This record gives sequence, structure tokens and C-alpha cells, in this order.
Amino acid sequence: MADLYQFRNELDDPLDCLYILHCSGTNPLDNLEFSAKERKALKQKADALKPRGEEGELISGECPLPFAHRVTFFGLGEEKDLTITKLRGALTSIMSQATKNREYQIGLASPARIHGMAHPESRLFTLREASLADYTFDHFKSKKNEFDKIDGLHVIPLVGETEEELGERLQRVRLLRTSVQLARDLANRPGNDLTPEAFAGAAREMCEEVGGLRATILGKKELLKENMGGLLAVGQGSEEEARLIVLEHRPKKPKKSVVLVGKGITFDSGGISLKPPKDMGAMKYDMCGAASVVAIMRAVAELELPIKVVGLIPTAENLPSGTAIKPGDIITMANGKTVEVDNTDAEGRLILADALHYAARFNPDIVIDYATLTGACVVALGNEAAGLMSNDDSLAKTLSKLGEMTGDRVWQLPLYDEYLGYLKSEWADLKNVGGRWGGVVTAGMFLKQFVPDKVSWAHLDIAGVAYSEKEHNGTPQGASGFGVVLTISFLEQLLK
Ligand code: BES
Ligand code: MN
Ligand code: ZN
Repeated sequence: MADLYQFRNELDDPLDCLYILHCSGTNPLDNLEFSAKERKALKQKADALKPRGEEGELISGECPLPFAHRVTFFGLGEEKDLTITKLRGALTSIMSQATKNREYQIGLASPARIHGMAHPESRLFTLREASLADYTFDHFKSKKNEFDKIDGLHVIPLVGETEEELGERLQRVRLLRTSVQLARDLANRPGNDLTPEAFAGAAREMCEEVGGLRATILGKKELLKENMGGLLAVGQGSEEEARLIVLEHRPKKPKKSVVLVGKGITFDSGGISLKPPKDMGAMKYDMCGAASVVAIMRAVAELELPIKVVGLIPTAENLPSGTAIKPGDIITMANGKTVEVDNTDAEGRLILADALHYAARFNPDIVIDYATLTGACVVALGNEAAGLMSNDDSLAKTLSKLGEMTGDRVWQLPLYDEYLGYLKSEWADLKNVGGRWGGVVTAGMFLKQFVPDKVSWAHLDIAGVAYSEKEHNGTPQGASGFGVVLTISFLEQLLK
């Protein structure tokens, strides 16, 4: 991905193109930090090209100044209608335009502010999305498109934005981008490459690279000792052993304790309750929640947050075989509850349940889980927001608000006690599925039975937002890294 620079700090040759984003009804040069001379020359150019700022408008001309060859005005429509998704889409269009034009060094001037968002947040959002907009996953391509890639993204300061301020913002954007990129890179790896064992290896490697994190991997023997009947049952159909990856960030005087749990099914065939072949390949993404947790832990360590944060990743492969769990089987979970497995395709909740129970030993104030858990969530919310369920309304409100600010949008769904009735089993304490209706919330309700007492807990069903088959509103094809930025913002908010 393109490196981020402060305009003029790393520029030997002129920019290939300077992109100026602007809203209709505004002067495109407003709020941009240019000298009077530069402003005058650009103004003349704008007067000649007459950009109107209409949504999607793209008007290009020769740049009248020596610092760039060309200048392109990119319209965002009216500022009062500017949303995070619209801006994200625009930034992605610009980056793909630049790539197509073989522009290697580009300038980005974006004074536009997202409607209803405070200025610094809007600015950070813009820079972060721009820096992520040209992400591609070409690890398995022998011929990489290295020559067509943008090398540098040079950010034009805004009026009143000091060099230090912009420098700090870019530093933060770099850090978050590295984490989001890690989440995407892990999640995009197919099932044969990222097995539970390889996942544990990748998590360990990340810890060694950043330092300050402790990694512990529980294998079959340890899982048996912990009575993790859910995780072991899901893994028993595969030759790949299930694991629980534990990543710990333990600062000296932590202000809070938070446990993050990510669903790490490296491939979900459905097991004996086999999925239909259509789209089954997408189930290589069934570890997106886990990938985000690893990436969040990386950022937490790098930021040295004074919060104890533990990442728990139950990881397994859900396959049918002679040793696989079968519908009707009754298993005993780590907390002692028995579960009748009515459908082996509802495997995520089984592995998460054991991890949620395990979370208790870290005395968390807050537990958040991330899981591509139900197709029903995609039916309910499509690809625009994750489903959020919680036992703590104020936690839910905070996450909802931060979702709107970071672009990782979440929408709350209820966990009424009545839903527990849907999971009633004739033979065990619980069934792992609750029938056709309310599939998102019955999954949430199942998890709730395993959350340690007196803990604020939020469950994010990210099935609809964690990946996409093609580019969607500016998020790339493949994994999105959903949850990374939201969670870092949340953890920082805890310190305020
Ligand atoms: N990993 C799937 C959920 C999923 C579906 C994620 C579509 C992304 C896109 C999960 O393990 C699953 O199979 N859930 C079942 C639950 C059902 C059997 C109650 C589902 O949603 O069909
Ligand atoms: Mn499944
Ligand atoms: Zn699954």
C-alpha cells in the first residue's frame, strides 16, 4: 500500500497528480494550506476547469505549479449529505483512478467534513480510509502488480493544521492501517494455508514482532484439561487440531481489564450438517473475528494502552468425517452446561462459549466478541452494519456511537429473556440452534449463557460486514478488517 507523507516533506520529483476533493457550493481551495501565490495559480486553474463539486465529478487539467504535473478536482456532492460511506467510496475511486493512470506519487487535499462529525475525527477518518483504499491481497499471485501501484500519498495540510498536528495524525493513521492490513491479510488467507496451527503461528509471530505481548497456545491436551467440550467437539471432525490462542497485554498499572474474543473457524463446511456448495468457499472467511482480534492486540501493544487487554481466539476447522460431531450429540461445555448439537453448522457459538467462560480468569470489566456468526444477521442488516447484542445498554450505546464515527457501524438488537425459550432442549440444558426465526438473537442468547457473571459484554455478529465478494462502498474485495478501528477507539474512550 502507498506510504503516507506530509506534503513537501518527501518530495524530490513533482507529484504525478494532485487530487482536490471538494463539496458542491464550496470553493475547492477553501481551507487548504497553500501560499498566496500557489492559491492564486490554482484558483485560475479552477476558474478555467469550473469544477462544481457534484458527486462523482472528476475534472482534470495540467497543474499550473511545479510541485505536480496534473491537478484533478473530485466532487463529493453537498457537504450536508457527506457520509462516511460516501467519502470512503470517493477515496477508493480516487486511488483506483490514480492506479489506472499510472500515477505513483499523488497529492491528497481533502478539506471536506463528514456531516455531523467533529473536525478531528472527520480528518482522521479521511486520512485512514485514503491510506487503506488501495489495499489488495496478492500473496498467492505469482505475478504481482508492483509496477502499477501507488508509491506515495502526500497529504496537503489544512489551514490551521500545524505540521506537528498533521505529523501526529499521520503517525496514528500508519499504526491503525498496519493493524487493519494485518486483519485483512490474515482473514484473506484460505483454509489450506491458515489452519488453526498456522493461525497460532501467525499470532505468535505478531507478538514477537511488536514485543510486549505474551502468547500462549492451548492444544488438545490443555483443552481437555479445561473441559472445553465445545471447542474440542467442533474440531474433532478435522485432522487439524483445535486450539485456543491467548494473547495478553499486561501494562504495569492497568486502569481496566478487557477481554476480546474472536471466532476463528479457519474453514466452515457446516460439518455433518453440510452447507450447500454454492458460496461455501466464502467460509474461509469464518475467522474474520479472530483476525481482527489479533490485529487489535497488535495496535494495543504498539500504543502501550494502560489497559489490561487479553485476546482469546478459539480456532478450529469445521469438517464432516467419521470422527465429526453429529446432530443429536450432547456435549459438555467448559462451564458444565450440556448442549444438544441439533445442527453442526451452528459451530461458532460452541467454540465461543468455551472462550467466553475462559475469560473469567482475567477478571474482565468488559468482554467483547467478534464473530461471523449467522447468515440471519446478513438477512437482517445486509452488508451495512454488524449486529450488536449486549447485556449492558451503556456499553451498547458507546459502541454504536463509535461505530458511526469510525465507519465500523453496528446496530443493536435485543436479547429479551423470551429468546432463551427458543433454545430449549428435551435432552440437554440447551440446544445449539433456536429454529428459523430470530436467528441472530438466538445465537446471541446462546452466547449469553456462557458470559461470566457481573461482566459487561457485547457480541458483534460481523457475518455481513467482515468480508465481501466484491468491492463494496469503498471496502475492498475480500476481508475488511471490521472491528479494528472501532475497538481501538473504544479502548481509548475507556481511558477518558
Ligand atoms: N459461519 C456461519 C455464518 C455465516 C453465514 C457467516 C454466512 C457469513 C456468511 C455459521 O457458522 C453458520 O453456519 N451459521 C448457521 C446457523 C444456523 C445453522 C442456525 C447459519 O447462519 O445458517
Ligand atoms: Mn457454520
Ligand atoms: Zn461458522
